[in-house]
Amino acid sequence: MRHDSSIVEFQQKRGGDCAAFFVPFLTSDTILLDAGCGPGTITAALAGIVAKAVGVDIEPKAIAAANRLAARTGLTNVTFVEADMTTLPFEDGTFDAVFFHAVLYHESRAVLTRTLAEARRVLKPGGFVATRDADVGGNVLHPEIDGVHLALDLWQRWYEHDDPASLRFGRQQGSILRTNGFTPVWAGASYVNHSADAASRSEAVADARRSLLGLGPQLVGKGFATDDEIQAALAGWEAWGADPDAVYFRCRCECVARRD
Ligand SMILES: C[S@@+](CC[C@H](N)C(=O)[O-])C[C@H]1O[C@@H](n2cnc3c(N)ncnc32)[C@H](O)[C@@H]1O
Repeated sequence: MRHDSSIVEFQQKRGGDCAAFFVPFLTSDTILLDAGCGPGTITAALAGIVAKAVGVDIEPKAIAAANRLAARTGLTNVTFVEADMTTLPFEDGTFDAVFFHAVLYHESRAVLTRTLAEARRVLKPGGFVATRDADVGGNVLHPEIDGVHLALDLWQRWYEHDDPASLRFGRQQGSILRTNGFTPVWAGASYVNHSADAASRSEAVADARRSLLGLGPQLVGKGFATDDEIQAALAGWEAWGADPDAVYFRCRCECVARRD
């Protein structure tokens, strides 16, 4: 294994949580692509168990952060490339495995089709694609707080106004992969736990806050919400975060499919 203690930490925190389901499909000979790698935490974690890992992201800041992480951890088998997953700068059949983590959820069907065609092109025959994404239908949230319900409703108003199934993306991954030329071989689900302690609850509150403040002007602009509703939703999350018995388990659906 080529990793130091900080990578072990990533494997436990991110790779362990986010990519554990894909690990049985990876070997020490695997050449892996992590598409939409963000800051590279999962790519770096998986680099510890494959021959070579490449992370791509369209966002230059994400690639800069990923390169800093690679430098910090001293990994020599991971590279990060600024690239668009719909037009990948790699030869046909370069990779044994392609991973999409929290990347495909809000993409349009047209982008999904292009992205999965690229994944198929850069995969070797017999290679695997894995996806892990959210599905609000599986979330567990307690206690019942009006402002939190309002926040969920606001997200639904925003994300489902042009695609009624968009918040239940996770469960559709297998059928989407099959439609795009892959053969699903495994499906499952796991949870992100925002309940264990005050820090993990604050993470959920900060996430909700970021999202509500980011979407707020657009929701109000399109007439989907009022400023008062945004404020009530924010207050609801603060109240949730202050309850020591609050739980929030966020469902993540997982799928692995083969490129025949
Ligand atoms: C929610 S983040 C997930 C990052 C990472 N996979 C993780 O789970 O930690 C989604 C990432 O997908 C990237 N992304 C979105 N569209 C992309 C595209 N067309 N090509 C490459 N990356 C893209 C974004 O820049 C962002 O870093």
